[in-house]
Amino acid sequence: MSAYREEPTISLYSNRSSFKWVVLGVALIISAGSIVYTNELVKQIRDRERKQIDLYASTLEYLANENDAPNLIFVMEEIIQANNTIPVILTDEFGKPEHYRNIPAADKIDNDRVRKRFLLNEIKDMMTEREPIMVTLTDDNNQIYGYKNIYYRNSFLLTQLKYYPYVQLSIIAIFGLIIFAVFNYSRTAEQNRVWVGLAKETAHQLGTPLSSLIAWVEYFKETFPDQKDVFIELQKDVDRLEMITERFSNIGSVPQLRQERVFDLVSEVVKYLEKRISTKVSMTVQAFPNEEITCSINRPLFAWVVENIVKNAVDAMVGKGAITIKIMKVSDGRVAVDISDTGKGIAKNRLTQVFKPGYTTKKRGWGLGLALTKRIVENYHGGRIFVKDSELNKGTTFRILLKS
Ligand SMILES: Nc1ncnc2c1ncn2[C@@H]1O[C@H](COP(=O)(O)OP(=O)(O)OP(=O)(O)O)[C@@H](O)[C@H]1O
Ligand SMILES: [Mg+2]
Repeated sequence: MSAYREEPTISLYSNRSSFKWVVLGVALIISAGSIVYTNELVKQIRDRERKQIDLYASTLEYLANENDAPNLIFVMEEIIQANNTIPVILTDEFGKPEHYRNIPAADKIDNDRVRKRFLLNEIKDMMTEREPIMVTLTDDNNQIYGYKNIYYRNSFLLTQLKYYPYVQLSIIAIFGLIIFAVFNYSRTAEQNRVWVGLAKETAHQLGTPLSSLIAWVEYFKETFPDQKDVFIELQKDVDRLEMITERFSNIGSVPQLRQERVFDLVSEVVKYLEKRISTKVSMTVQAFPNEEITCSINRPLFAWVVENIVKNAVDAMVGKGAITIKIMKVSDGRVAVDISDTGKGIAKNRLTQVFKPGYTTKKRGWGLGLALTKRIVENYHGGRIFVKDSELNKGTTFRILLKS
């Protein structure tokens, strides 16, 4: 029986998950920083554009009211011409567009009326973005005789800059996701190759001495008929070795699935294990509605699954308690196998971690049992396995769902 450690082994996987949070945290800080910095730039350029339009308005106001300073007018016209980024529309006292700059779409319209209508629409749009600036018209006696309005919106540059960080971050995020998917895919493919390759090699290596052992046992059985009891025991060990080889060979290839009676298979495994574990552990197998339930499974591999889970259950109960295995048909036609124990339970935050390779709380554990089990159930049988429920110091139920 394995002694338990206080804390699980720090595996490659738990390190990787904290690394993931660090990367995510840094990415969030960089994104937030980039957005804040760009917003600051946008604000500054916005203020500058506002000042430019104010200057433009003052120029217009001056031009409209003072006609007697030709040199000054020249300077001011320069200012008006200098605005070649900010889209502006000047309207007369009746709100009709009189003059515009930096609206290329309007330049393309030949028909005057259509262009006017277009500009009026533009004005509506501009009003949602920026307040218009009013130009006051005064006569020679400084009497106000009308108003003009200057409507304007952010320059294209500013608009671009506003959205730039979002576009940039989205592109980086998409690129990151693609890299992650490729990396994940190649990691899974590599894991598959390692599992399959190692299993194949093990089966292959065991094969040769095993065939010779089988032959030797046969030979001794016939040569020393009076020692029969010894050879029966020896035969059992050879059978077990043969089964192990068969499991590895099935993991290393595409396993054949056949319709099997689940109850019989599970009972067989339980009978085998019962002899090898403490008598203080009781094991029961039940089937609902009856023992006839069949589903398509690979015998040696599924026996391995049951063995792994039951062995874990025995470890979790430290040699004393009850294991109940229930086989039942569930509503969608699938078959559920629930394996419950009265052991120490699994903490809520470890429920999915127990399936990761390398996760173990046992002194002599490899943390491979459940990883292999999950692989057999999901990859080789198209089923599912999960911890159905678990309560600390009360017990745990693992559920396997299989296609019938
Ligand atoms: N029934 C259970 N009750 C409580 N904890 C469990 C149970 N089954 C599994 N665990 C926890 O999950 C961990 C991983 O189990 P897994 O079978 O993968 O590895 P292991 O038993 O530690 O080592 P081994 O590779 O020898 O099987 C165990 O170390 C244990 O902490
Ligand atoms: Mg185990």
